[in-house]
Amino acid sequence: MTGWGSGYITDIAYLSGWYRQQSPGLLALACLMNGVETAMPAGDDPVHVLELGCGQGYAALLLAASNPTWRITAVDFNPAHIAAARAWAAEARLENVTFLEADLATLAEDRAARMIPEADFVTLHGLWTWIAPAVRDGIVRLLRDKVRPGGIVHVSYNVLPAWGPRIGMQRLIHDAGRVLAGRSDRQAEEGIKLAQSLLAAEAINLRLPASTGQMLEQLGSLPVAYLAHELMNENWQPCFMADVAAAFAGAKLEWVGSSNLIENFPALTLTAPQQAVQQRFDDPLLRELVKDMCIDRALRHDVFVRGVRRITQPVRDAALLDVILGMSVPADELPLEASIPAGKVELSRAFYHPVAQAMADGPRRTKDLLQADHVQGRKDNPAELIGILVGLGFAEPAVRLGVGPGAAAIRLNQVALRRMLRTENINRPVAAASLRMGTAMPLTLLELFVAEQARQGNTDALYVGELLGMAAHQGQTIDSIIQTRLPVLRAAGVF
Ligand SMILES: C[S@@+](CC[C@H](N)C(=O)[O-])C[C@H]1O[C@@H](n2cnc3c(N)ncnc32)[C@H](O)[C@@H]1O
Repeated sequence: MTGWGSGYITDIAYLSGWYRQQSPGLLALACLMNGVETAMPAGDDPVHVLELGCGQGYAALLLAASNPTWRITAVDFNPAHIAAARAWAAEARLENVTFLEADLATLAEDRAARMIPEADFVTLHGLWTWIAPAVRDGIVRLLRDKVRPGGIVHVSYNVLPAWGPRIGMQRLIHDAGRVLAGRSDRQAEEGIKLAQSLLAAEAINLRLPASTGQMLEQLGSLPVAYLAHELMNENWQPCFMADVAAAFAGAKLEWVGSSNLIENFPALTLTAPQQAVQQRFDDPLLRELVKDMCIDRALRHDVFVRGVRRITQPVRDAALLDVILGMSVPADELPLEASIPAGKVELSRAFYHPVAQAMADGPRRTKDLLQADHVQGRKDNPAELIGILVGLGFAEPAVRLGVGPGAAAIRLNQVALRRMLRTENINRPVAAASLRMGTAMPLTLLELFVAEQARQGNTDALYVGELLGMAAHQGQTIDSIIQTRLPVLRAAGVF
């Protein structure tokens, strides 16, 4: 610890990651799906996004590059994070993103806060349950001042009771790790090894329930920077959803739903007997507690709104018909069955396959998808189409129809490639900025490289492989990316 982190680690930089649940389009869609009046971000709207605890700023950079008319402000107290984020922004010549080095415990009262405009969207990913109570209080004061009426806030956090049985595991890793090693990442590694040896020695509170043992076995294979930020903070404390809702009420924020869209559908989340218990309550927070008792979900992605305006189902459905969707997987890869918290859901091939095919050349409005050629099935339920395709991660809400890749998006993708190819594993998950989508498309570093080569006119798998120093047999992997992934990325406007 360096002394200024209020218990949050500061000696190891966090890793760059993109989490689709933070995307403003998805957040607005989560509100609409839950019957809350919201304008989907569109065209040249002057949207302001505020990210709190932005790490090295990858998400903020991707949103800025994908939306040149938006303003993005991203805050972190770690100067190494802010320096890295600013360096990327300068290299990609992004002028619509500001990275602010500030402590969220006091930012609301700081002069620097005057630089932050009212926000349409605020996102806090991986922050709330990892920080001291004084920092959480500071965040609520900042939200009270900076979220515009009607604005949307996303917060992810470790939730109880799912984390309950694993609290001992974290405490053991944290406390033992601090004795066994110096730097936070090494502490996490040593703490995990110790906990794993205790699991092998049949420690009952690591072995039961099974989810703790499974998690402990998997932890060792995760990146050390992630483990350090996940496990080595002094104030990490999972909490109940109602406690977050109570804290956010201090900023006049009301809980609306989840940005994991599937979780907004009781029928897809809970069994029939579980739903019967849930339906005994009108209070949404109590209904969420019942849900949290029933599903094994350690991280919640909640959406709050300041000034909820309810709309009727016909009004909601009319708005959903205008939502633009783009595919993130090839139509041929749409499964006929998918896993959901309540078990399995079947996807009618006669309905979903033609819908997905209709997006082969680019995003389309939901109303056009429902009327596309050969679609067989219910054409009057946009919420189901969107809930399944977006909820299962097969499609994303898009912001702009018929625009090209976007100069800023191309520049950022090139910067990401230049920098990450030097240091990162080629199969690492990253994301590509896209003006058409107005958000980032998840893909691997290798896929990003192949897409950039295709943009430059190179689609010869052997040649592209040679550029990476790959052996000839690995050309097959590149060939399969060219055949199956490039059409999706082209349709999404990545190149
Ligand atoms: C787990 S990381 C998440 C980063 C980013 N949101 C992501 O998902 O990649 C949490 C971040 O919060 C920052 N942080 C922790 N306490 C903070 C504070 N008091 N003020 C500002 N930033 C803080 C850390 O430096 C770290 O970058």
